[in-house]
Amino acid sequence: MRKNIVAGNWKMNKTYQDAQALVSEIDNMVKDEVTNDNVEVIVTPPFPFLQSISKLIQGNPRMHLAAQDVSAHESGAYTGEVSAAMLKSVGVEYVLVGHSERRQYHHEDADLLLKKMRAALKEGIKPIFCCGEPLEVREAEDHFQYVNQQLRETVAHLSNEEFDQIVIAYEPIWAIGTGRTASSQQAQEMHASIREELSRIFDAEAAYNKTILYGGSANPGNAKELFAQPDVDGGLIGGASLKSRDFTDIIKSF
Ligand code: PGA
Repeated sequence: MRKNIVAGNWKMNKTYQDAQALVSEIDNMVKDEVTNDNVEVIVTPPFPFLQSISKLIQGNPRMHLAAQDVSAHESGAYTGEVSAAMLKSVGVEYVLVGHSERRQYHHEDADLLLKKMRAALKEGIKPIFCCGEPLEVREAEDHFQYVNQQLRETVAHLSNEEFDQIVIAYEPIWAIGTGRTASSQQAQEMHASIREELSRIFDAEAAYNKTILYGGSANPGNAKELFAQPDVDGGLIGGASLKSRDFTDIIKSF
């Protein structure tokens, strides 16, 4: 059975104290309320809070830690960068790669994203690879081709063993932080298309087993219908992951 994942992407929000409080609440609610053994919960706080949050969630086997970014370089003179080995050393298990905000504001291209995935994988950190089309591409009805191309220029270069370690997140850019969610039908048809493309690139079994998350204005009101789609294996949650009640209700939507 494919693993279901709900990952909260906190982006650049919360101070240290707020972050501690939020993760303690989530940790307790998950312990008390989440009974589904096939769902993994990931929190993705900003860099300065990773170590303390790693300690906080240590006793809860359902909770996992992700970083929002990783350097493509191993170590050395790269001011401001954080390496995969550093992340590993504070208990990070996953890392976001290819989020549309990094692609857009930091001009991260396919070549860099592949390097980042490889840097993470080398340290045993699993990339959550984000893809998704902007509004104009959706309106031009080129979205399937656009996302396939994003996979072809990055994920397709991984070995079978590397591919086994990654998670895919489909995040249509027009749905991120806009309150405009993709319909469950739009999500399902894109997830099915991604899985089909992955089966062409790798093989049918590897594609079938791949966890593919939906992201973009997911909330407690729409998560159930999204997660009920056969190819939607969970969510990458932005805004709603900053509220413990909402985030836990999303986790309970499977
Ligand atoms: P959102 O963000 O849920 O606030 O739309 C999703 C994301 O960017 O991962």
